[in-house]
Amino acid sequence: MCGIVGYIGWQDAAPVLLKGLKRLEYRGYDSAGIALLNGALSVMKQKGSVGGLEKDTEALRANLPGATVGIGHTRWATHGEPSDCNAHPHLNEAGDIAIIHNGIVENYSALKQELVSEGYLFLSETDSEVLVHLIDRIWKREPSLDLESVTRSALRHVEGAYGLCVISSREPDKIVVARKGSPLVIGIGVGEFFIASDAAPIVEHTNKVVYLSDGELAVVTREGYSVKTIENIEQEKIVTELDFSLEKIEKGGFEHFMLKEIFEQPAVMHDVMRGRVRLDEGQIHLGGIVDYLDRLKHAKRIVICACGTSWHAALIGEYLIEEFARIPVEVDYASEFRYRNPIVGVDDVVILISQSGETADTLAALRTAREKGALVMGICNVVGSTIARETLCGMYTHAGPEIGVASTKAFTAQVIMLYMLALALSKGRTISNDEIAIHLKELSSIPEKASRILELDSQIKTIAERFKDAKNFLYLGRGYNFPVALEGALKLKEISYIHAEGYPAAEMKHGPIALIDEDMPVIIIATRDNTYSKILSNIEEVRSRKGRVIAIANDGDQEISRLAEDVIYIPQASGPITPLLAVIPLQLLAYHIATLRGCNVDRPRNLAKSVTVE
Ligand code: G6P
Repeated sequence: MCGIVGYIGWQDAAPVLLKGLKRLEYRGYDSAGIALLNGALSVMKQKGSVGGLEKDTEALRANLPGATVGIGHTRWATHGEPSDCNAHPHLNEAGDIAIIHNGIVENYSALKQELVSEGYLFLSETDSEVLVHLIDRIWKREPSLDLESVTRSALRHVEGAYGLCVISSREPDKIVVARKGSPLVIGIGVGEFFIASDAAPIVEHTNKVVYLSDGELAVVTREGYSVKTIENIEQEKIVTELDFSLEKIEKGGFEHFMLKEIFEQPAVMHDVMRGRVRLDEGQIHLGGIVDYLDRLKHAKRIVICACGTSWHAALIGEYLIEEFARIPVEVDYASEFRYRNPIVGVDDVVILISQSGETADTLAALRTAREKGALVMGICNVVGSTIARETLCGMYTHAGPEIGVASTKAFTAQVIMLYMLALALSKGRTISNDEIAIHLKELSSIPEKASRILELDSQIKTIAERFKDAKNFLYLGRGYNFPVALEGALKLKEISYIHAEGYPAAEMKHGPIALIDEDMPVIIIATRDNTYSKILSNIEEVRSRKGRVIAIANDGDQEISRLAEDVIYIPQASGPITPLLAVIPLQLLAYHIATLRGCNVDRPRNLAKSVTVE
C-alpha cells in the first residue's frame, strides 16, 4: 500500500527520505519517487524498488546539494499500471508544485475532463495527478493566495480519500499536508519535522508525534506546525509519545520479519495479557472497555467485522463468545457488511478487528455500524490508527509492529484478546468465578507451550522440504480448529503461491474429497477434543484415497502416528485454547515451504500489509 514520507529541517533531505521509504517497504509497493526542494524542485521517480531509486538519485543529489526539504512516496497501483510516469511525486506543468498522494480521488475522471478541457496536460494515468493541476489552477486564478490556501481550496473539489503532501518552490520553506481517510503522522524533532503515513520512518528520529485526523490540513515549517480543518478552523493537537523502538521494527537476527514475528509470539502472548489477566485475583481487567462492559454484556447480538487473517480470528471469537458468554455472534467480512444494508441497531455491538487499524473495508464497516447506532468497539494493533480512534471503545493487542505482510503474531494476539473478552462478558453471568480462574490459569500457560512448539522448527522445515513442490494443499479442522485450518491455508497461499484450501473436516465429503489423490498433502488438525474420534475417521478417509496426511496432534498421541505420514506434536490444551498453539506449526510450515521455493515471504507478490483502498 502506498507510503508517504516528508522532511523539512537542517539535514540533507534525500537520505532521510530514502531511508524513510525503506522503512515503509513492508507495506508493499511497486514504484517509488522523491521530490527535493532547493531553490528549484527536482523529482526522481521510477517503477521498482527504493534501492533502485537510491542509486539513480545520486546524480540528482549531486545537482542539488543540501536540499533540506523534500517528499517521498512508495506507490501501490490502483489507477494506472506500475510505471515511471505513474509513480509519485506528480508535478504541475511549470514544475514548481509537487504532490504525493495516498488514497483514491473518486471524482478524478470528472475533474480530469474539466482540467484537460482547460488545456492541462496529464502525464500519468493516475487519479492523483488531478490534485497538482487543481492546485495549479487555483493558484493561477488567485496568485495572491498562499500554498496552504490553494491546497485547501483544491481539496474542496475532491471526493474520496487522501493523505497528501504538497511542496512548491514558490514557498520553499514549508510542506502542506492533508488527511482524509488515509493516515498521516507528523514527527516532531529539534528544528526539523518528519511526515509519514505511519510511524515506522519517524521512530528513529523522534518519538514525539502528532496524528492528523480526517479533514485536517497542516502547514509544517522548520519552526513548527499548525493544524486547521479543511474549513479553516484551528485545531489543538495532542503530542503522542511512540512506544516502540527502531530495534523492534528491525529483523533482530532473523532472516525474515515473518520468521522473527512467528518467534516473537510467546513474548507477545505475555504482552497481550500483561495487566489484563490477574491470576492472583482470578480477574480480567480490560481497561479500554471497562466503561462499556455492562452494555456489551447486554448486547442483543455481537457482529464482528474484519478482513483476511483478522477475519479468521473473528471466527474463533464467535466460538469463544457464544460458548462462554452465550451472546449470539455473527462474523462478517467487512467488505460484505458495508454494502449489504446490514440489520444492526442500538442493541447490537459491532466489533472491528484489524491489525493495522487502517483497512479501508473494516473502516467503512465501522462507519456503517456507527451510523446505524450500534456500539462500535475496536481490536487493533496499531496505536492511534484510524479504527482505534473512531471506535467508541476498544483494546490494543500490543503485538508490536508487524512488518511481514502475512500476519502471524497479530493473529495470536487477536485470539487472546477475544478470549479475554469472552471471559469478561461471561463474568457474573454465564460462568462462575472458579471457572474463570481455571481459564486464566490455562491462558497464562500458553506462552511457555508456544515456545515448546517453536523448538520444532527444524522438524517442520524437514517436512516442508518433502512437500514444497506440491501444487495443492488441503487444510482440515473441526470446531475451534476450523478457523485455524482456514488461516493455515491462507498463510501458505499468501507467501508460497501454492493453491491451498481450508475446510471444516466434516465438509470434506461434500466436495473436496474428490480432489484427494497421492499428490494431495492434507494437513489435519487432530488435537484431542470432543471431535477427536470424528477427525480420526476423516484421516482414514483421506488415507484410503492415498492422500498424504500431515497431522497436528497432541503430545503422546500414538494412534495418530500410525495413521499419518507426518505428525507435528503440540502440547495438550483445552479446545478453546488449541487454536493459539495449532496455528504456530502451520505458520512455520508455510514459511519454510515459501522460502524453499525462493519466494519473498516478507513482501509477497500482489499483496499489501495494509489495504487502505477498496
Ligand atoms: C491484508 C494483509 C493481511 C491482513 C488483512 C487485514 O490483506 O495482507 O495479512 O490480514 O489485510 O488487515 P488488518 O490490518 O485489517 O488486520
